[in-house]
Amino acid sequence: RTCKIVLAPFNGGQPHGGVDLGPEYMLKHGLKQQIEEALQWKTEIVDPLKDLDLEKLKAEADLKEKELKPKIKRADLVSLANEKIYHACKDEIKKGEFQLTLGGDHSIAIGSIAGLLSRYPDAGIVWIDAHADINTVNTTESGNLHGCPVSFLANMDRHDWPESFKWIPEKLLRTNKIAYIGLRDVDEGEKKILRDNNIKAFSMYHVDRYGINSVVEQALEHVSQGDKDCPIMISYDVDAIDPEASVKCTGTKVDYGLNNREALFLCERICETGNVVALDVVEVNPSLGADENEILKTVAMGCSIVRCTLGETLL
Ligand code: ARG
Ligand code: MN
Ligand code: MN
Ligand code: MN
Repeated sequence: RTCKIVLAPFNGGQPHGGVDLGPEYMLKHGLKQQIEEALQWKTEIVDPLKDLDLEKLKAEADLKEKELKPKIKRADLVSLANEKIYHACKDEIKKGEFQLTLGGDHSIAIGSIAGLLSRYPDAGIVWIDAHADINTVNTTESGNLHGCPVSFLANMDRHDWPESFKWIPEKLLRTNKIAYIGLRDVDEGEKKILRDNNIKAFSMYHVDRYGINSVVEQALEHVSQGDKDCPIMISYDVDAIDPEASVKCTGTKVDYGLNNREALFLCERICETGNVVALDVVEVNPSLGADENEILKTVAMGCSIVRCTLGETLL
């Protein structure tokens, strides 16, 4: 099988520089060879942002927004980058190929998931994260768009979107086709959205209460809606993982997360269904490491997530 590696080195959805280095560091760590040699997949790189001067565009956006102070930050830039990622995922990846998107911040899931759903409209999304990333343009307190991708995919408050986001297809992600695992830092506005829409969400409480095995089972059952062949996509924010366990190099760290085995088990288990068609790995930020070892641990975890999702097993 072929794994298309979509590079999404985008940092405009949040304030820190460095999260754009995620793909480069994971590839430097040998990710491509690991997929090819250990797992026997073919790989092909897709580079949808290569023609954009992202740092220049970001500087221009920030300059303009210094006076305007809009509620959401760098909206047009986030939209533009995601439109490119969307088209790459939609047009350059065929059914049967695996879509691996390396972020970048989590705003890039707007493009990757919109692209995936163009190919598999009924796919279920398992969102692994400390955060729900479901703020709308109206509820966001930070204005950072990496806290909002799910609301765009689910077309929430579409009437209030900046014009530039209107490329996002309507009726894209149904709220009963997503399940969260790992939540522990959810804004009040987001809690209301999760409740009002009856969205399946497993916080760290549920991981402790039922164990990761049961939580994954319940999440899969929910997003599959009774279809045993339902295509599954994992959108994996590495901040789901406990900083003390391995992931310190990420922009919005939250204590008491998944341990390293829980973090990889869920990939192994979802792979085992035979239905996983896509994965995002986001929010790896090598610039936030205090030393080489911290960077290595975070980057290595990003690579392990990929390998376990593509079929690496312990035996
Ligand atoms: N809920 C917060 C916000 O809206 C934090 C979001 C963090 N998101 C992430 N992808 N790390 O800004
Ligand atoms: Mn997060
Ligand atoms: Mn625990
Ligand atoms: Mn996230």
